Amino acid sequence: MQEPFPTHPSLDISENGTMSNATVEVNYDDLIPNNVNLSEDRALKKALEAWHPGYIDWWKSMGPEGFQESEVYLRTAVGVDPAGWATFDYVKMPDYRWGILLAPQEEGRTIPFGKHKGEPVWQAVPAEYRAMLRRLIVIQGDTEPASVEQQRHLGKTCPSLYDLRNLFQVNVEEGRHLWAMVYLLQKYFGRDGRDEAKALLGRQSGSEDRPRILGAFNEDTPDWLSFFMFTFFTDRDGKMQLESLAQSGFDPLARTCRFMLMEEAHHMFVGESGVGRIIQRTCEAMKAAGISDPYAIDAIRKLGVIDLPTLQKKANFHITVSRDLFGAEISTNGANAFNAGLKGRFRETKIDDDHQLENAFYSVLRLENNQFVTQQVPALTAINARLLDDYIKDCQAGLNRWNKILEKEGVEFVLSQPHPAFNRRVGEFAGLSVSPDGILLTEVEWQQQRDRWLPSDADLDYISGLMTAVTDVGQYAGWIAPPKIGINKQDGDFEYVCIDKPERCPAEREA
Ligand SMILES: [Fe+2]
Ligand SMILES: [Fe+2]
Repeated sequence: MQEPFPTHPSLDISENGTMSNATVEVNYDDLIPNNVNLSEDRALKKALEAWHPGYIDWWKSMGPEGFQESEVYLRTAVGVDPAGWATFDYVKMPDYRWGILLAPQEEGRTIPFGKHKGEPVWQAVPAEYRAMLRRLIVIQGDTEPASVEQQRHLGKTCPSLYDLRNLFQVNVEEGRHLWAMVYLLQKYFGRDGRDEAKALLGRQSGSEDRPRILGAFNEDTPDWLSFFMFTFFTDRDGKMQLESLAQSGFDPLARTCRFMLMEEAHHMFVGESGVGRIIQRTCEAMKAAGISDPYAIDAIRKLGVIDLPTLQKKANFHITVSRDLFGAEISTNGANAFNAGLKGRFRETKIDDDHQLENAFYSVLRLENNQFVTQQVPALTAINARLLDDYIKDCQAGLNRWNKILEKEGVEFVLSQPHPAFNRRVGEFAGLSVSPDGILLTEVEWQQQRDRWLPSDADLDYISGLMTAVTDVGQYAGWIAPPKIGINKQDGDFEYVCIDKPERCPAEREA
């Protein structure tokens, strides 16, 4: 077992709202896995000590509901080398070792894009870009605890212990990503960085008065299909954002994001394999019942599986709210962050151009005189549009793999992505009434057909009715196929979460 990370029973919240923790001594040097010389950085340690009790308090009140005392088979990053970044063991979630880990520094790295291209990367915050940089870090940081909040009720309806463990893995790692951003704020931004770090625990997903910054992170994640769609589509937005920040000329941000991307890959695996297993199960059930028409929804639902048209509607919802996360397609903020060398493009260094884009153009889809047209716009202003295009391509690769399952099972149905203008609230197409195949409609026409394209109340009720917990070892809910391989290659009957049977819990057995 790993050494537990102590929790703080005595939170002392003073009148001005700041938290102090006078009674519990924490050895931060040993207990926070880090490669940032934490033991030698007194100012940072002090800031972390002030922030940490509030974090644990947040985890316990806004993190996974229940299961805080359960032993969960989790991957913990204790170092950035291959041997240290993925160590598996049973751990109680509040004792998870949320570390501060940056990818190794590259000798002689230079700023790869923008007007400072070719200059040595910054190890300190460049004064002229301080506010812009802080904003980028805060926005990224805000998404991390938000998704934990959105997913907090899912444990009680888990389709298996395997899936429950995957949910918690994603949750603790999003918690670690919050630490990663808080580290940057506290280490490099002084007092206002500490204020921002505190505010990250103050906002709350879905809250009326203190919501999370971005729309998709205030949506509900009411069921496990939503969870899988979220980790596939919304975590993939996270991947794209991290990929562009991993190019940053502010080296500590680039290194932090490069390490986060290693964890992010698993989140999208959880989504892709989760949806893939649902498709698999639906196909198997349809074939066993002799149903070949994927639109025979009533008959398919009688089998207790999720029909493919509903799966498409759920995908449509998550795709469109995730696209909104990219911001306006044409954006001066995007141009400024690129020009400044703070946020690059997807795989910037692999792109074959001058990386400054002062005279370059990029094709963007726009609406002109009620027609969708492709327009050449200055590439600098189209940084967001390009990242969104890369995202749509990245999503399509996953959809193609889902469609392979359908093909292999001989079910005639193709999952697809809706038109870029469908159901958008942000950017070029915000508020337009456009069908998934790109037909411009009146608002009334759109509303009349809405339930054909996005989950209806009846669809959501049906899915919600399927959500009952399956917690017997090696068992799976009837609407999802078991995974092909276990986590860390464990066997099918592996107990990924020891919920309430301490006699079977490995930690207890060892003791
Ligand atoms: Fe994350
Ligand atoms: Fe993630």
